[in-house]
This record gives sequence, structure tokens and C-alpha cells, in this order.
Amino acid sequence: MRPRFLRSQAEARPRRHLFSVSTAVLLLLGRASSVAAQAVATIPITTANTALVLQTDASNRLNTVYFGAPLVNVADYAGTATQYAFNDTNAGFYPNTYTPAGTWNLSEPALAVTHADGNQSLELKYVRHETKPVDAHSSLTCILLRDPVYAFEVTLCYQVWPQENVIEQWTEIQHREKKAVTLNKFASANLYFTQKDFYLTTFQGQYLKEAQPAETKLLQGMRSVESKLGTRAMLLQTPNFILGLGQPAAENEGTVLVGQLAWSGNFKLEYEVDSYQNLRFLAGINPYQSAYALPAGQTFRTPSLLYAVSRHGTGEASRHLQSWARQYRVLDGQGQRLTLLNNWEATYFDFNEQKLTSLIQDTKALGVNMFLLDDGWFGNKYPRNNDDAGLGDWQENRQKLPHGLGYLVKEAQKEGVKFGIWIEPEMVNPKSELYEKHPDWVIRQPARPEIYYRNQLVLDLANPQVQDFVYGVVDGLFTKNPELAFIKWDCNAPIHNAYSSYLTKKGTPQNLYVDYVRGLYSVLQRLRAKYPKVPMMLCSGGGGRGDYELLKYFTEFWPSDDTEPVERIFMQWNYSYFFPAIVSDNHVTDWGKQPLKYRIDVASMGKLGFDIVFSKLSEQDKAFAQQAVRSYDGFKDVVWQGEQYRLANPYEQDIAAFAYVTADKSRAIVFNYLTDTRQKITATPRPVRLAGLDPQKSYRIKELNLYPGTTSTLPPDKEYSGDFLLNVGFNPNVTLTRTSVVLEVTAVAH
Ligand code: GLA
Repeated sequence: MRPRFLRSQAEARPRRHLFSVSTAVLLLLGRASSVAAQAVATIPITTANTALVLQTDASNRLNTVYFGAPLVNVADYAGTATQYAFNDTNAGFYPNTYTPAGTWNLSEPALAVTHADGNQSLELKYVRHETKPVDAHSSLTCILLRDPVYAFEVTLCYQVWPQENVIEQWTEIQHREKKAVTLNKFASANLYFTQKDFYLTTFQGQYLKEAQPAETKLLQGMRSVESKLGTRAMLLQTPNFILGLGQPAAENEGTVLVGQLAWSGNFKLEYEVDSYQNLRFLAGINPYQSAYALPAGQTFRTPSLLYAVSRHGTGEASRHLQSWARQYRVLDGQGQRLTLLNNWEATYFDFNEQKLTSLIQDTKALGVNMFLLDDGWFGNKYPRNNDDAGLGDWQENRQKLPHGLGYLVKEAQKEGVKFGIWIEPEMVNPKSELYEKHPDWVIRQPARPEIYYRNQLVLDLANPQVQDFVYGVVDGLFTKNPELAFIKWDCNAPIHNAYSSYLTKKGTPQNLYVDYVRGLYSVLQRLRAKYPKVPMMLCSGGGGRGDYELLKYFTEFWPSDDTEPVERIFMQWNYSYFFPAIVSDNHVTDWGKQPLKYRIDVASMGKLGFDIVFSKLSEQDKAFAQQAVRSYDGFKDVVWQGEQYRLANPYEQDIAAFAYVTADKSRAIVFNYLTDTRQKITATPRPVRLAGLDPQKSYRIKELNLYPGTTSTLPPDKEYSGDFLLNVGFNPNVTLTRTSVVLEVTAVAH
């Protein structure tokens, strides 16, 4: 949504204040002799559980004056600032709502620019604001700030979903100067909190160890979390955060923000505790080597900072964010997903039509919806027989697939299953025809040695010709194979040697990191205009990508190449702070020592897939897998659309437990696992307290996914009151021989 009031001949007009009378009070300004009256604007941005209140000061600058529970009496917001006595000369700097550089502010700025005339000063004064409904579920507040000296202005935008307690905020920057203005730093958000003690959980990682949490108390000074990887930007650090206000983040108590900067490139989140022990939080695109040239008349829209707020801990905040994501953000977030069999770990690059046909038959035998053909199907002059050649040449390899993709699509049709395909269209191997034909399409320093990551380089998506090429790869596949049902879109290399010959010719070489990401979004917008529904998986050598901007175009993402199921429990636990299960692609593979049942149960907490050779399983494993797929089909809607409760934290004990509960509290699926396999436990020592159920209802508990030949050790057909299950709990009897226990909890009608 674009704010409506921007871009007029506004600079020439006398200043007008548009603010609601109910939130404005008058303040007398200036020296005793002055009679000028300055209106104070108070702008509450509220959800069901939170008020973020902004207010102008005597200089008409905008400050954040409150972040806390909503007040019953709206008029009271105007007085919140009077209760704080942060009153030395620094006091006015810190709470500014969008801190400019080069004038009065001496702390970390949100915005730093070089004007067309080379001057680096910026001042932003409040002009007006308005709040309007966007739809039945959300409203948008836009606040216009303007530099009194330069024809330069900024609009702060806050879209709010009150019921989910989610705030999405971004900034729009524009100017009417004579030439381009350079944006040296351009944050999306600049928040201010006065709760005194702040605990930050960040999620760091590396390949196969993605999204590992680390909580620290923020101390005075600056803590920054950032990526400079360009693509695959979330590999080492993620733009996801949990912020505990006043106390460490806990699952069921305390005020927390759980959020993310929704940007698929370099990001920077800065947490600065000031001299009053208040927290300034700035989030945006990483300004690293990205001084952005913004021409007059164009709007620079920053990415969004998204967060859900709860005053009852991370559990509730995650449920808010997950529910918001399903309803309003993720493509087809409330729709269906295709279960699948993928050939990657079954064959790697070594396959032919016969092997694939046999896996397609396996797909049917297993009972999943789709066969997914992974890497290795393309390239002729430079066949893709391992990862050092062929990327970029998206024609079927004639040796492996003499009858083309169409033949395989038909084979799948014969078996009554769908067919999906892997691509990595943003990348190129130097050993490829694409590289030979278009070296200028590749991000590389012309005078320096190339640097490879997985033997490949990144294409320059800032270049519209490259955008057309990438669009054409996908469009071509769909045009030739209209039955194609799914795309796995991979992205395996970060950007080294950042240099775009296209942007250099255009005179804006430093726009590369930003324009790359925008180029990617623009390709995806075009694709979605033509193919609105086809499900696509966002993959990035594991969890190098997974953000709410790309999830507007993708239905799901691949959290990690690490599919060892115990590791996966921790990883899925961590991702679940931010994402609903429906976006998490979980595949059963041969990784690790856990039995097939354990692997399938873990993968069932999301969208289930398989990377195994089904026909080589033992007869019992085969029967179990088929039965587990049927069972999953029976409860997947509860996992995908239900409210998630993290019941037992594997970081704190030997087991993990998760529950997914329907909105009407009539059904829940509860997953319990032994996670510390060194422990010789003979029985789970204490019950797992359930959550999300109705204390007034009665429930029956049944064990699902029993391995052939085993019987449940749990009492059959026994009824429990919701009250009992919520307060006493239920012991799933996880033991060394029952390392994974799935329960179906169903309300009993009396
Ligand atoms: C990446 C993906 C894998 C697989 C390979 C193929 O590592 O994460 O799932 O698709 O690429 O090369």
C-alpha cells in the first residue's frame, strides 16, 4: 500500500498539520515574548495488546514516547512522555522516531544522505499523518516528515493487524532535488524502548547448522547482527529476532517482540542501549557498500520490519505471527501442499530415465502426491553430472533424459502423481554455455580472479536482461510442460566480487546489492502474475533464505540440508518461533541413526516429503511409511492450520514435545520425542502439560503412527478432562524403545 498524500507541490505550500483533534494538544512555544503556538501531535499505533505512541516535541520532531499495554483512555497517551525525566542534553536525541544524520543527532542514525549539492545534513520535521483502514483486518498509519531546508521527505508507514498483534513498518524516501541524492543509510525502522533490561535472542548458523539461538542481555553500547552475503543472506546470521523487554524471553510469560526484517539480501539489525539504559533498535538493509543513488521523483521503499508482540511470552507471539502469516502473508497460506518424493538423496546426479521412472512408481506406492526431480537434469555441452558444470543451461540433458521432461511428466501422470522440478536460475557455472555467451551477465570483478562457491557464480539480477532470462527459464518450463506442478527454486552461492557491469555503465554501481534483490522480486512478480498458484519451494542450500518478503511468492521453504531428525527437532523448534508449520518442508532421509518412524514423525511437523529409495526399504518399513502417509493425510490440516504450542523444550530436558490444536479446540496432534539419546530413560519421568485445549471439554487420547508389530503402552479409550490435561498433563511414556510418540487428542461429545 502506498500512502496517498505524498508527491504534490507540497514544498511550495505553507505547512499544514493534519492530525486528529482527539490526539492533539496545544503547547506554548518559545521565549516569554513569543505568542506562537505549536500543535503537538500524538500518534498512537495500537493493536489488541500493544500501543506504540509517537509524539512531536517542541521542535516539531517526532519521538517514540511509549511502547506498552494499550491505555483505556486514548487521551492519556498525550501525557505519557511527561512521566519520564530523561533530561540531560542527550535526552532529546535518543527517542527520535527516525533519526537523521548530520545535524543535531549524534547517535546511530536511521537515515544518512548526501544531497544533490554534496551537503550531508538532514533534519526531519513532522508535517502530517493519517490512519486509514486497509481492509477488514488491518489499518495503515502514514506519517510525513520533511526537511525544512532541502526538498527531501520521508514517510513512516505502520500497517497494523490488531487481532494478531502484528506490526509491519517501513519507510518511503523521496526528494525533488536537482540530481540524485545518495542514501548512505536507510533504515526501515527505528524503535525505542524504555523497559530498562533487554534480552536479545539471535539466530546464527552455518551450512547444516542453521538458525541456532543465542540469548544475551544487551549492555550499553551497540550490538549489531548483519549479513553481507548478498544472496543466501541468512546462512550465517538471520534477520529473525526475539526481544525480551524487562526480562529474558520465556515461552509463557513476559513481554516479547518476535520478528524479522523481511528482506532477502544484506540486512543489519542494530541494538543500541543508550546512557539511560533504554534501547534503540534500528533495522534495515545493510548499508555496507550500498550507498544508493536515488533519482528525484522516485520513491525508495525500504523493506518491512515485522513483529508480533505478546505480553505472555514467545509462545503466544509465535502463534500471532504464524496465524498472521497463514492468513495475510504466505502465498496460499491457508491452502493445500503437495507431499512428495524427491530423488536428490536417492540418486544425487547419477540417474537416467529408468531410475527416475522407478522412483515415480515408488512415489505412487508410498502414497505421496508428487515426484520431485532435483538437480542434474540439464546441460549438454557441459552436462550437469556434478556441481561444477552446467548451471545456466536449462535444457534437458540428452543422455540422461533422451525423451525430455515431457516423457517423465507423462510417466508421473500414468502413475497418478504430480511432477515437480528443481532449478537454480540465479546462478551460473563458469563451465556453461550461458557463461560463454554472456560473461557480462555475471557478478564478477572484471580485473580480478573469480571466486567460486560450490563452483558457481551469481547472475546479475540488477540487469533487466538477466531478469528476462530468469523469468524465461521458469516460463519456458511451464510453457513446454503445462502439467508441471511444483518448482524447487534453489540459490547456493553468496555474492563475491560484487560488481555489475550493467549498473557500472548506468553510473550507479553501488546500487547492486539492493537492485539485485529488487530484480529478484520483480521476476517473481511477473511469474506470479502469469502463474498465480503453482506451489514453489524456496531453497538456499538449506536455510540461506526464508523471509516474509519472498514468502509472498513462495508457498514453503527448505530450512536446512541437515535432515538428521534429532537435529531437525531443534531446528524446527527454532524456526517455529517465526513460521507456521505449513511453510516448513521436512524430508525423511537416511541421515542419522534414528528409526524410520522417528524420522517420519519429525518430518510430519510441517510439509512431509521423502528423499529415500522406497523400494529398498524392508517390508515392515514400507508398510509403516505407507500407513504414516495415510495417517499424515488425516491430520495434516491440524498441523498446517492449527495453533502451535511448544510444550517441552529440548534445550532444557531430554525430550521435546509440540502440539498443534484446532481453532475450536476439538482436536490436537501432539508429538513427543526423546532428544537426548545418551540418556537411558525407562519412562518419561513427568507428564507433558498440554496447552490450547478447552478445560471444560473431555478428551480421548489415541496413539498414532504405531510401527507394525508394536502396540501402544498407553491406556486405550480413556477419557481425560481438558482441565486435567492442561494442569496435570499426560505422560506419553517416551522411552528408549519408544523414542517418538504421536498422540491424537480428540474432544468427546457427551
Ligand atoms: C542444495 C539443496 C539440496 C539439493 C542440492 C542440489 O544443496 O539444498 O536440497 O537440491 O542443492 O544440488
